[in-house]
Amino acid sequence: MSASAQVVPPGAAARAAVPRHVAVVMDGNGRWARQRFMPRFFGHKAGVDALVRAVNLFADRGVEYLTVFAFSSENWKRPSEEVSGLMSLVLVAVSKYLTKLAGDGVRIRIVGDRSAVSDKLRQAWAQAEELTRANSRITLAVAFNYGGRWDVVQACRQALAEGVAPADFDEAYLSSRMSLAFAPDPDLFIRTGGEMRMSNFMLWQAAYSELFFTECLWPDFGTAEIDAALEAYAQRDRRFGAIRPPVVVDGD
Ligand code: IPE
Ligand code: IPE
Ligand code: MG
Repeated sequence: MSASAQVVPPGAAARAAVPRHVAVVMDGNGRWARQRFMPRFFGHKAGVDALVRAVNLFADRGVEYLTVFAFSSENWKRPSEEVSGLMSLVLVAVSKYLTKLAGDGVRIRIVGDRSAVSDKLRQAWAQAEELTRANSRITLAVAFNYGGRWDVVQACRQALAEGVAPADFDEAYLSSRMSLAFAPDPDLFIRTGGEMRMSNFMLWQAAYSELFFTECLWPDFGTAEIDAALEAYAQRDRRFGAIRPPVVVDGD
């Protein structure tokens, strides 16, 4: 160590500039439509367009995985017209945007309970996954009929079916059976629409995610909001329960 060695403030070395995995609760479509005196469905449609824009913006900034909450296990409680509207919107969105997303280098994965959706929708999901499986610019995981508690339960069911011994059942085992086992845990968890809750999204995986809440309604979530979220993330000091000793750097 030279005489001019300096001490870098704790945490500086731990700042990863760009999150590898971003999870987003895309909330606020209904309010966005209401502000325009339009039906809620209008907001959901604008929400799909916002998602297609956001995937490319996150990819341009070096994010490798984007997981978005599109329909929760609890969203079945909504009026049946809204639920069926959302189901048809997804089919329309796949036919409208799949070719574009595939061409943009996006790999699509669907996570959630597929057993409750229509055959048509299951086929559309399978087609989207198949067509984009070799893409590597960014992975877009769409959480549909997904719930964090459902995910833990389905992972435990797999473990039980595999007859795992209690002593072999640990965090790594459970993680490997979760629906997002193909991705690292999310570094950054964003929720638009002003609510500060997780609403049953990625409960297991978000244990050490950095949280970012914004009033911005999802259809308005564009370049400025994405850059603000990534900028906030870059300022965070992630310690994962440890304490960070000062890092000593040699001067010249
Ligand atoms: C999120 O927007 C989209 C879905 C849950 C499908 P909302 O529909 O929850 O919009 P708000 O929260 O009522 O504004
Ligand atoms: C969370 O939003 C689910 C999705 C964005 C798909 P909600 O609007 O359903 O959440 P709550 O009801 O406000 O908690
Ligand atoms: Mg909402």
